[in-house]
Amino acid sequence: MMYQFPEGFVWGAATSAYQIEGAWQADGKGVSIWDEFSHTPGRIADGSTGDVACDHYHRWREDIALMQQLGLRAYRFSINWTRIFPQGTGSVNQAGLDFYSRLVDGLLAAGITPFVSLYHWDLPQALQASGGWASRATVAAFANFADTMVRHLGDRVQHWITINEPWVISVLGNEWGIHAPGKQDRRTALTVAHHLLLAHGQAVPALRATRSDAQVGIVLNLSPCTPASPSAADYTTYRQSDGGLNRWFLDALYRQSYPTDLLHDAIQAGYITSPDLPFAFPGDLQQISVPTDFLGINYYTRHIARSTAIPETDNLPATVIPAPPSEHTDMGWEVYPQGLAETLLQVHLGYRPPRIYITENGASYGDGPDAAGVVNDTRRIAYLHQHLQAAHHALSLGVPLAGYFAWSLMDNFEWDRGYAQRFGLVYVDYASQQRIPKASAAWYRQVIAANALPEV
Ligand code: FCB
Repeated sequence: MMYQFPEGFVWGAATSAYQIEGAWQADGKGVSIWDEFSHTPGRIADGSTGDVACDHYHRWREDIALMQQLGLRAYRFSINWTRIFPQGTGSVNQAGLDFYSRLVDGLLAAGITPFVSLYHWDLPQALQASGGWASRATVAAFANFADTMVRHLGDRVQHWITINEPWVISVLGNEWGIHAPGKQDRRTALTVAHHLLLAHGQAVPALRATRSDAQVGIVLNLSPCTPASPSAADYTTYRQSDGGLNRWFLDALYRQSYPTDLLHDAIQAGYITSPDLPFAFPGDLQQISVPTDFLGINYYTRHIARSTAIPETDNLPATVIPAPPSEHTDMGWEVYPQGLAETLLQVHLGYRPPRIYITENGASYGDGPDAAGVVNDTRRIAYLHQHLQAAHHALSLGVPLAGYFAWSLMDNFEWDRGYAQRFGLVYVDYASQQRIPKASAAWYRQVIAANALPEV
C-alpha cells in the first residue's frame, strides 16, 4: 500500500521553551515554576535543571538551519511567559518580545510556518505564589498574556495553541506532585483543570479580537484506555482513567459539560459536595466550549487500566493483556500505534473538531553517536513509520487530520526525567552543544519531501 498524504498536509516538529531555551536568567526574564522546581533537590531524576538545556535562546539561528535541513514546513514552539511578563502580569519585558519576534521572522524567512503554544507549563513563579492555576486571577493574567502576544506576533503568526496538556498540568503537577509546582492535592488538581480550560476559553476570543483570521486550538494528551482484565474492578478503573484522561476535557470543550459519572465519583470521594463544582461559575462552561479552529492531539501510548483492588471472587488474573508482549520505549511507554488511529477516530466520531493536528508524537530511545559519529536510531524510525501509517488509516476513514508534528526536533530536558530521555530527531551533545541529526531526521526529511511514507 502506498501511504500518500493529502496535498497541504502540514509536516512539522515540536519543542517547548523550558525544555530547550536555557538562558534562565537572561535579559530580564522572571522565574517560572519549572525554574523553581528543577532547582529543588530531589525533584529531577538526574539532578539536572533547564538552566542551559539546548541553549536555544542563543543558538536559535543554528536551530532554524537544522529545521531547514530537515525540510520542516512547520515548527511548534512555546513562549516562556516569564520572558514577556517576569511577574506574570504588569509591565512587559521588551527583550522577551524581541526574542520571539526575531525567532518568528527567522522561521518565516526559512519558509517554516510557526505554530505558537502560549502555555507549555512554565507559569511565572510570582503567580504561583498567589495560588497559581488554583486561583481564578491566573485565568485573567493568561488572557492578558495571550492578548499581548497576538498584538506583537499576530501580523506574522496565524496558528495559536492556548494550553498544552491540561491533564498533565493538573494531575502530574497538582495531584501526584511529580511536575511543578509539586502539589499533592486532588481538589487543587480539579480546580486547576477547570481554570486551565477557562483560560483557554478566554484566550480564544482575546486572540481573535486582534486577529480575526487567527487559527486557534488547544492541545490535549489523549490515550485510549483498555481494562486489563474483564473483572468489574478493572472496568471501574478503566471508566475512571478514560474519564479523567480523555472525557473530562473533551466533554467540557465540545459538549459544554463534565462527565456525570466522574462528578458522582468526586462527590463520593468527598472532593466536592454537589455536581456544581464550587470553583465553576455560571457561564464558565459556555466560555470553555467556545468553537475553535482545530484540536491538537499529543499521542504517545495507550493506558492499560488495572485496579489496585481486584477482588478474589473475580477469580481472574489481574492482567490478561498486553498480549502479545509489546515493545516499550526508554520512557517505559508501550509502542502501540493502533491507539493513535483509534484515538483520532473516537475523537472525530464523538466530538467532531473541524480539524485535528497531531501536535506531538515520538519516542525516547537513547541511541547516541557510534564511532563514526552516526546516530542510527532505527527504533525511532520504526516508531514514527508505524504511527504515520496509523495516522494515514485515520485519514482514509475520514478524520480531518491536517498535520503532524514529531516530538521532538532535538533531544531536550524531559521534565522530571532530566536529560536521560532523548526524544529528538537531532542528537544533542549537551557538553559541547553540538547537534547531530539522527538517521530518523534523514528519514523524516524524505517523508516530508515525498509527502508519503517510503516503501519498506
Ligand atoms: C508531553 C509534553 C512534552 C514532552 C513529551 C514527551 O507530555 O507535552 O513536553 O515532554 O510529553
